[in-house]
Amino acid sequence: MSNEQENVVNSPQVENGEDGDFVDPWNVVGKSDSGVDYDKLIKRFGSSKIEDDLLDRFEKITGKQPHHFLKRGIFFSHRDMHRILNDVEANKPFYLYTGRGPSSSSMHIGHLIPFIFCKWLQDVFDVPLVIQMTDDEKTLWKDLSVEEAMKLCYENVKDIIAIGFDVNKTFIFSNFEYMGQAPEYYRNVIRIQKCVTFNQVKGIFGFGDSDIIGKIAFPAIQAAPCLSTTFPAIFGEKKISCLIPCAIDQDPYFRMTRDVAPRLGFPKPALIHSTFFPALQGAKTKMSASDPNSTIYLTDTPKQLKNKINKHAFSGGQPSVEEHRKLGGNCEVDISFKYLTFFLEDDAKIEQIRKDYSSGALLTGELKKILIDTLTPIIQQHQERRAKITNEELKLFMTPRKLF
Ligand code: TYM
Repeated sequence: MSNEQENVVNSPQVENGEDGDFVDPWNVVGKSDSGVDYDKLIKRFGSSKIEDDLLDRFEKITGKQPHHFLKRGIFFSHRDMHRILNDVEANKPFYLYTGRGPSSSSMHIGHLIPFIFCKWLQDVFDVPLVIQMTDDEKTLWKDLSVEEAMKLCYENVKDIIAIGFDVNKTFIFSNFEYMGQAPEYYRNVIRIQKCVTFNQVKGIFGFGDSDIIGKIAFPAIQAAPCLSTTFPAIFGEKKISCLIPCAIDQDPYFRMTRDVAPRLGFPKPALIHSTFFPALQGAKTKMSASDPNSTIYLTDTPKQLKNKINKHAFSGGQPSVEEHRKLGGNCEVDISFKYLTFFLEDDAKIEQIRKDYSSGALLTGELKKILIDTLTPIIQQHQERRAKITNEELKLFMTPRKLF
């Protein structure tokens, strides 16, 4: 069922691939206008495609219809999902682990994808979730002081809480804070660092001789939450499996971890990978918080949202109305259509829009209006929930404690 053949020392040249797509935790560049070739990426990374048999099994075991992210191939790849479902069938516990690197005061709508999916998995499986805020990573990679990264971290935590996580099942932690609270965390980081050579991280992440040593040591810090003993307040000394929902850019960290975990007596972390929510300018790059023109922030006003979509969203339409009516638009490259596949849940509506846009019955301006009308309430409701978060609530989410 799995084509898994993990290549831990996966050179950046291999990541680059002969098709010219480049994907690592910091950069995503596709060669084609329709974006990264995800089938080729699965082969290159050695993960497994999410096939119908996995979705059928998922539905059978949980009694729930798969999320539209699964049905539409937005979550498209995995490692060891069948093992997690075996655990569920055998009533064995597992937990969810995901994270965010706070590089900007506001998250963007693309960041919602792994978190919305995580919330859904948390609701479906009723399991604990740990969310790592890598304020340390962003201090090392960006032009940010420790203090600035910590500030951004708390702003981002509010965005994450606003997604609707259950406080009784969710622990959100800043690396700068939690490393000082739990000696078990640091001990696991060191155990991992002892298993990985400089040559290996060079191969996986493309580090060079002039990279600062903080970067070289960092991957172990993102790996450590895969070991359940990093969270003694939640799991005690139990060694429990974890499942990581994330976009596929984060996979290199966990290829490394999957090699190390069994050597330390832990199960390999399982993963479920999403495609990238593309930049406004087109699917060649992912939406990124550091580029304001390519990005819709969760803090954008309805007016900003409307202007950004109307001005910047790459269109697969024809240059004139006459040509569009005659030739139709191209949904494969049209950013407004792509965004709708993420955020418009109604399958019948999506199919109708695809048909109408492809035939030329629906114009680009009309398609953009549908997108604006879809996203505006989502962002407004997010902002309303965020505004209501109190310091006490934030503190509670970030306190190491037993989760039920
Ligand atoms: P970061 O802050 O770059 O991204 C946070 C999460 O969002 C995903 N993501 C996207 N998903 C869809 N479309 C996009 N355009 C897009 N951009 C980012 C990322 O894959 C990630 O899931 N080092 C990490 C933080 C981290 C983490 C983790 C992430 C720590 N531990 C465990 C996932 C799982 C980072 O900087 O993510």
